[in-house]
Amino acid sequence: MTLIKKMIRTSRIYYNPEVYYGKDAISCLKSIQQENLLILISNTIRNSEHYQIIQTHVSKKTCRVEIITHPTQETILALKEKYLHSKPEAIIAIGGGKVIDTAKCLKLVLNNPSIDFSNMHKLQFSEVNEIKLVAVPTTPSTGSEANSVAVITDRRGVKTPYLNDSFIPDMAVMDYNFLESFDLKSLYVLAADIFTHASEGMVSVARTPFLKAIGHSCLSLLESGLNALKKDLKDTRALSELSSAGYLGGIMVGNAYVGAIHALAHTLEKQTNKSHSNLILSLIKPVYSWSKTQKDNPLYNEFLSIYEQIGFEDYVNYDVFNEINIDEWIEDANKDINMMTNGIKMDKENIPQLIEWVLNNR
Ligand SMILES: [Fe+2]
Repeated sequence: MTLIKKMIRTSRIYYNPEVYYGKDAISCLKSIQQENLLILISNTIRNSEHYQIIQTHVSKKTCRVEIITHPTQETILALKEKYLHSKPEAIIAIGGGKVIDTAKCLKLVLNNPSIDFSNMHKLQFSEVNEIKLVAVPTTPSTGSEANSVAVITDRRGVKTPYLNDSFIPDMAVMDYNFLESFDLKSLYVLAADIFTHASEGMVSVARTPFLKAIGHSCLSLLESGLNALKKDLKDTRALSELSSAGYLGGIMVGNAYVGAIHALAHTLEKQTNKSHSNLILSLIKPVYSWSKTQKDNPLYNEFLSIYEQIGFEDYVNYDVFNEINIDEWIEDANKDINMMTNGIKMDKENIPQLIEWVLNNR
């Protein structure tokens, strides 16, 4: 329970009260006290062998299940209507960021029915916190299990981040068994997202020595895990390192925020059908090489050297920049909230310069 429910100047780190991790960590679901559960799950997990295992762990509970495909405002408000008069004791979100972010908002609006998307952006605390939230990420890169941020798509298709201290899941469960079905290329692409959660936070306007240390740990787990997975994709220690890196990346996103790479990726997501992680991967090298020309910060060289060391370049597809509307990209990027926390101050003058650099230096 939060003791301080107002914005104060003192730095604060958001952490989950309970974190379970490692092989078969998912089995902890059978020990949670709550009996009446609402399970939000991705289609991928619903159709996988993992679903049967999950069912055995909650077989003694009363469970209702919803499959989440899109984290939209409509989805969340429809679920609010459906469950408002028969609330669960806990919501268990099993999936990627879409599922977990949907669950965060659903928990907030079910606990506080007067909240909807017209006032959610004004609130950073929740008065009522009866319904608990358990987040079980099934991809390594979401990080959503570790933070108080939920990214929801509005009616115009714009991804909007919401912040609320009640979004921090009451319990996070990182079970690397979920990662065993990914091929090496997919893991590299997802890891690029983790790489930027740590690195953009380490240079962001909200960086602190404490957060930088978490970012360094994240990058070192990432490097060690991916190098081991290159040799043996079944290396469970390496999968565990990747899963832990993803969690630390989530702490960075929630506390130090991200920057221009995420702003450029989010705005391109609107124009292409490429995934968030794929776009992030293709932006890392050009954005950090531009950043080096703007600010004398040794971290940019360090990021580029870790990027080389990990071997991300082998998995980049710069074709994502073909056939995009550059003017629209510039216009959207100017408005993206993540530009505001970038390590280099971004404005109407240097955003077009950065985009030109990205297109010419890929
Ligand atoms: Fe990301």
